[in-house]
Amino acid sequence: MNDILFKHFHKPGLRALAGYEAADVGGYQVARQMLTSKVAPDEIIEKVKQSGLRGRGGAGFPAGMKWGFVPKVSADPRYLVVNADESEPGTFKDRELMEKCPHMLFEGIHLAAYAIGAHLAFIYIRGEFVQQAQILEEALAEAYARGYFGRNIFGSGYDLELVVHRGAGAYICGEETALLDSLEGYRGQPRLKPPFPAVKGLYGGPTVVNNVETICCVPFIVGQGPAAFRKFGTEKSPGTKIFSVSGPVKRPGNYELPLGTSLKTLIYDVCGGMRDGHELRAVIPGGSSVPVLDASKVDIALDFESVQAAGSMLGSAGVIVMSQRMCMVRATLNLIRFYRHESCGKCTPCREGTYWMEKILDRIEHGMGQPGDLDLLLDLCGTLLGRSFCALGDAAAMPVESSVRTFREEYEAHIREKRCVVRDAALAGSR
Ligand SMILES: Cc1cc2nc3c(=O)[nH]c(=O)nc-3n(C[C@H](O)[C@H](O)[C@H](O)COP(=O)(O)O)c2cc1C
Ligand code: SF4
Repeated sequence: MNDILFKHFHKPGLRALAGYEAADVGGYQVARQMLTSKVAPDEIIEKVKQSGLRGRGGAGFPAGMKWGFVPKVSADPRYLVVNADESEPGTFKDRELMEKCPHMLFEGIHLAAYAIGAHLAFIYIRGEFVQQAQILEEALAEAYARGYFGRNIFGSGYDLELVVHRGAGAYICGEETALLDSLEGYRGQPRLKPPFPAVKGLYGGPTVVNNVETICCVPFIVGQGPAAFRKFGTEKSPGTKIFSVSGPVKRPGNYELPLGTSLKTLIYDVCGGMRDGHELRAVIPGGSSVPVLDASKVDIALDFESVQAAGSMLGSAGVIVMSQRMCMVRATLNLIRFYRHESCGKCTPCREGTYWMEKILDRIEHGMGQPGDLDLLLDLCGTLLGRSFCALGDAAAMPVESSVRTFREEYEAHIREKRCVVRDAALAGSR
């Protein structure tokens, strides 16, 4: 627990530069040393490759490999963009990283930008994160005042500017290419890939987009070495990961644990078990955009491969816990309402599909479901899955499809009895 990212989070004053540079924390030493000794950028990329660090924003793509795709020579400037949009329901880890230790993120930015040869970096932060944006701005002002950004940082001869850019509150702007369009001042809608941003991204220049947590891992990896990172986690999913746990557990919150920790340990040991009167029914292990798993899968290991083998995805590791008192129809309706609202409208399967899925789920939930509705829902999921322009279409369909397939009897009871048997039983029990 708390071995890499949260290690110093209990220390007072960590948010300020002095706190981050305190002797026992030692912040900025890694960046200072790498930059002033003019270590070859490829050496940093190699360390990140060897560490096996996989992107923490959802897809789990190896960070070092992504950095390696940036052309060594390019006519256009190169950019680093940190994705701090964090709008996935159930995911709330990046906000804590930025709130508690903004300078750790900045140090990761130094190393990542230097490694790919960028002299301009952006943090694209979710519009609703007003307080976190302010914390970043204050920390950045302190860092600039000390010469840690701008010209000749740490006296190393290397120039790097950092801009904090606030989004306007659209989930789709977390998708990396929509984010780039938004950053350029356009309406945030996804771009066709390829070309991938590492080759042609912001303003047409090679651009690396990485999640906040991914970048925060970099000072540890470069400072302590890939082997130190690989001491945690599994062979294919190395390191620690922050799990954001929500739902009726005794101690919800963010927990840093080695990848591969079992779901059972997370729920029953780390989070203190289910709240009184609740029994585990289901879990969405990777934010709201991945298939739901029923309680029989509680023994799975939380790493990219094991969760996939169990029929879901680790995603952003926002672990949404559901109890036997929760109605799956209502929970699924709640999710699809979000995706319908956040669909950017660019492509028909997602724009129309999310609208119709919400309509059907809404009528089932409100006692007006019809025979055939479930097959219609599954049919719609098939129209979205793999056929939408960007991953939001899949993200909308996967929780619905898995919920209908796993809890079909409950959906059928809703349609047959025109009421929710689960909620009624829970209400009767609480009297
Ligand atoms: C609809 C949608 C929303 C996304 N939102 C985020 C987000 O808020 N933060 C994030 O880091 N990645 C988000 N992603 C994933 C990004 O597109 C991208 O894969 C990620 O930022 C890459 O960083 P990483 O390699 O460090 O994981 C989203 C993807 C989609 C399709
Ligand atoms: S899948 Fe949805 S969010 Fe993505 S481009 Fe199509 S309409 Fe927009």
